[in-house]
Amino acid sequence: MNEKAMQTYQEFEFCHSLQHMLEAQKAVGRTGKTFERLGAASTKNNLLALRSLMLEFKPQRTLEIGLAFGASCLTLAASHRDLNHQADRQHVAIDPYQSTVWDDTGRLALQKAGLLEYVDIRENPSCVVLAELLAKKRNFDLIYIDGSHLFEDVFVDFYYSGRLLAPNGLMLFDDSADPHIRKVLEFIDSNFSSSYQKLDLSHLRSGLESIKFSIATILKKNQLTVYKKVGRAERPWNSKFKNF
Ligand SMILES: C[S@@+](CC[C@H](N)C(=O)[O-])C[C@H]1O[C@@H](n2cnc3c(N)ncnc32)[C@H](O)[C@@H]1O
Repeated sequence: MNEKAMQTYQEFEFCHSLQHMLEAQKAVGRTGKTFERLGAASTKNNLLALRSLMLEFKPQRTLEIGLAFGASCLTLAASHRDLNHQADRQHVAIDPYQSTVWDDTGRLALQKAGLLEYVDIRENPSCVVLAELLAKKRNFDLIYIDGSHLFEDVFVDFYYSGRLLAPNGLMLFDDSADPHIRKVLEFIDSNFSSSYQKLDLSHLRSGLESIKFSIATILKKNQLTVYKKVGRAERPWNSKFKNF
């Protein structure tokens, strides 16, 4: 049995479809294709952190890059519902491979949970969709970056997400210990510290878990990193480069 299958998921009562999917570690697509183990899904801790941040900050408009089986999407959409937001496709979920690689598992899970009306699924690479949203002057209060994990893609996701974020909006990076993602975070910390303030998330855990989380943060080994946008996303074109 894999590690995820041995965990318990009673904290996910707010979305039974998600709870069942995580417990079974299984998703079935439109053509009947079955996915076992759900390795691509966000971790339990990340999903619970997303849920807590939604309830704490109450963002009106949200966006995520990387839909896959829909674990984070269900968490975000169910939270909009629980915050009494009227369903208005206020959550944009970007994934170029939803109906191909993932056989529509994310879309079907949202439908089954009755949450599809909260979500606007865009099946194109994030570099295309984010630029389109920017051209349309859209903005968001929370953006979860969990798409391609390549440095160049994560950097582009950061670049556009910063411009799409409303003041005080949150930018979340999954897998922040991954070397590709770490490099982007180091760029943000060294060159954009006056625009993006890192949030201390230790309050989301209790007891020993909170201490472990703080140590992981110091060692730059934590799964999730969250920034609050406290300044401008654009710098003067001739700004000095700070090495990192
Ligand atoms: C780690 S999975 C996302 C997991 C999801 N957030 C969850 O919690 O269940 C990464 C996803 O990024 C998608 N992806 C890959 N390249 C992408 C790109 N250029 N733009 C947007 N999404 C991309 C993949 O198809 C995959 O579904």
